[in-house]
Amino acid sequence: MNILKPTVLALAALAATPLTAEQITLYSGRGEPLVAPIIATFTEQTGIEVNVRYGGTAELAILLQEEGGRSPADLFWAQDVAALGTIKPMFAELPQATLDRVEAIHRDAGGRWIGTSGRARLVIYSPERVEADELPVTMAELTDERFRGRMALAPTNGSFIAHVTALREAAGDDFALEWLKGLAAIDPVIVRNNTAGHQAIADGEADIMLTNNYYLGRFLASDADFPVAQATFEAGDLGNLMMVAGIGVLESSENKEAATAFIDFLLGEVAQQYFTGNVYEFPVSGIGIVPVSGMGVSYSEANAAAPDFDLNRIVDMEGTLELIREAGLI
Ligand SMILES: [Fe+2]
Repeated sequence: MNILKPTVLALAALAATPLTAEQITLYSGRGEPLVAPIIATFTEQTGIEVNVRYGGTAELAILLQEEGGRSPADLFWAQDVAALGTIKPMFAELPQATLDRVEAIHRDAGGRWIGTSGRARLVIYSPERVEADELPVTMAELTDERFRGRMALAPTNGSFIAHVTALREAAGDDFALEWLKGLAAIDPVIVRNNTAGHQAIADGEADIMLTNNYYLGRFLASDADFPVAQATFEAGDLGNLMMVAGIGVLESSENKEAATAFIDFLLGEVAQQYFTGNVYEFPVSGIGIVPVSGMGVSYSEANAAAPDFDLNRIVDMEGTLELIREAGLI
């Protein structure tokens, strides 16, 4: 009775087929504890399964370049803009409807990647030891004598390196190097990272720091009286650079539609609220999230103050590290 044989084969084939019709592969430079819950929500809502490879953003960018068109990745989600600029040539153009969901400053002008949350640069300070009229008006002014011995600085922090890379692009290497030397000359309080810088200000070891917006919310969540405030520089100053975590679909993907559905989900209200509520980054798709506290800079303030700067220009992090070394900061 050979009629059974094809039936058995067909059943075996069915069993080997995934239950969901679609699967996508995501390379995520964003950490698993942060993104796994929201990815699970996406799968619940759409039935699309997401295979995730987690890693450091820079490390995954290198892997993608090595794999080229043979990469199994449909999507690359990066923590920072340097990696997005690096991988840009490998990304496909996103549909206009997806791009239109965020403001132009949060996405690639060529439409190949899009921000998923905003990470604004700004200053934090001690409201007890820094008067409002003492706050720096421009990023350039941070080298002023009045901040001697009072500025916390994390010279190896990725966002600092990215920000200095933007300064090189905007004002030239000579200017950036002089600025870095200026910082070194006023005897900064060198700290390990941005978190340590916030703590140094709270502990009275420093009074001011150029940093990212989202750390303060994390401190305030556990201590509502955490004695650190935020301020922007004057509107349009490079000091207020709005960077993003962002994502793109690989040109080599054979699942572009499902991959784009994932991006659309990330730009929706559920995911935007999740990210801003959990990590205190800013939303990028116009959903009103309450600022972290009366001492925090709100999204609309940060957005209004942000300079018009093409984030794709932030690529040469190595060259910036050289300048930071040359200035004697590391
Ligand atoms: Fe950070």
